[in-house]
Amino acid sequence: MDKELAVVILAAGKGTRMKSKKPKVLHELMGKPIIRYILDAVSPLNPALTGLVVGHNGEQVKKQLGDSPLVFIDQEQQLGTGHALKQAREALVDFKGNLLVIYGDTPLLTTESLEKLLEVHTENNSWATVLTTDMPDPHGYGRIIRSENGEELQAIVEQKDLEPSQQQIQEINSGTYVFRCPEVFSILEKLDTDNKQGEYYLTDIVHIWAQEGKKNYPVKVDDYQEVMGINDRVDLSQAFEILRGRINRQHQLNGVTIEDPANTYIEPGVKIAPDTVIRPGTILEGNTEVGENVVLGPDTTLIDTRVGRDSRIIKSHVNKTEIGPGCSVGPFAHIRPETVLQKGVKIGDFVEVKKSTIGEGSKVPHLAYVGDATLGPGCNIGAGTIFANYDGQKKHHTHLGREVFIGSNSTLVAPLRIGDRARTGAGAVVTRDVEAGVTVVGVPAKPFSKKNK
Ligand code: UD1
Ligand code: CA
Repeated sequence: MDKELAVVILAAGKGTRMKSKKPKVLHELMGKPIIRYILDAVSPLNPALTGLVVGHNGEQVKKQLGDSPLVFIDQEQQLGTGHALKQAREALVDFKGNLLVIYGDTPLLTTESLEKLLEVHTENNSWATVLTTDMPDPHGYGRIIRSENGEELQAIVEQKDLEPSQQQIQEINSGTYVFRCPEVFSILEKLDTDNKQGEYYLTDIVHIWAQEGKKNYPVKVDDYQEVMGINDRVDLSQAFEILRGRINRQHQLNGVTIEDPANTYIEPGVKIAPDTVIRPGTILEGNTEVGENVVLGPDTTLIDTRVGRDSRIIKSHVNKTEIGPGCSVGPFAHIRPETVLQKGVKIGDFVEVKKSTIGEGSKVPHLAYVGDATLGPGCNIGAGTIFANYDGQKKHHTHLGREVFIGSNSTLVAPLRIGDRARTGAGAVVTRDVEAGVTVVGVPAKPFSKKNK
């Protein structure tokens, strides 16, 4: 733990421009709330304390982040960013060192930039060190006013307070700072609301210190996208696009072929082994893990799913499933939670599988529903087969032994056990257990022959 470092994230603002009942920091990018991106960027720095200032709809934020080691700080009235940081005074009363302050709406920040900011702060013995960038369209951001030699920071001026001569400045304030603690809390007392928005601006600290002859430094990042703030849903979609590009690129550099990155959505937690090919329209969510030499897509969604090497999944939707190596799924399959496909299983077109284990090399090639079932290895399920698992009140299990052959259009009424190498005739409605090696036919199905060999 870095005892000299504390972090405070400001997230109490109303987020008015989002036009939402949900706090801004809980809006999601690629399945993860904005605020989590910031917490994840901060965590490698190992701060002694991370405080989160919440206000508007704070309860929702606390609920969602309850599992993180955060100190929640309430800001009851949202009187500006300076006022927000002031609320952290009590939480930091015993802390002496560097205070990293981040705005909760800048999810694309990287740990590297935060490290650089801290490094410059310490090296320069700075009072306030501010992460900046040259923004192609700086409208809406606070602008950086540098000293005459261009090295120090004189002031930050908000968009609405700009003099005409300052309108051209492209260098903007990212809203990420390092301050000295406890000194920052005494200077916060000097802020006023004498500005166009009538708020206590945290950014005014810079000017006050500069006037006292204290030195502040900017740290400019090259990639302006990294510091973009999310204020409305247009920003949200832009951040989404940037993030998607970053993630896809990383997988490509790791050896994954992505045929159409603009139409491929891979959430941050997903792992993919090299030589896998991702075809257009593929969405990989949650804790999905994909092995080597797999082909996914086109038009495939995997959620919290594991796929073994050499498998192929075409135009299918798969949720919370374990797919073994060498399997083939789709097109148009729907595989639902708690399913396991063992090695070399084939699930074909218009097949739904739910909460079932399909044994090695078994095939469900077309038009079937398999629910609450265990299939041994080498089974073949004919077209149109329904595992009737629900009696209107309860779900029941069906158990098939090895190499069972189910004729087309059979209905297997659970609970049911069908022994090894048993068979059903086309259209059988099986209501009773079938012994190993027996063939049953008809409605309700009855033994048709002596035991098969
Ligand atoms: C702010 C900066 C601006 C900078 C931009 C970067 C100020 C005065 N302006 O403007 O210089 O270029 O961010 O994105 O700081 N918040 C609170 N309590 C409040 C007000 C705000 O916690 O009373 C939080 C918000 O939840 C948000 C952050 O502070 O996470 C920034 O507030 P926001 O209103 O988005 O500021 P900007 O207008 O974007
Ligand atoms: Ca903002």
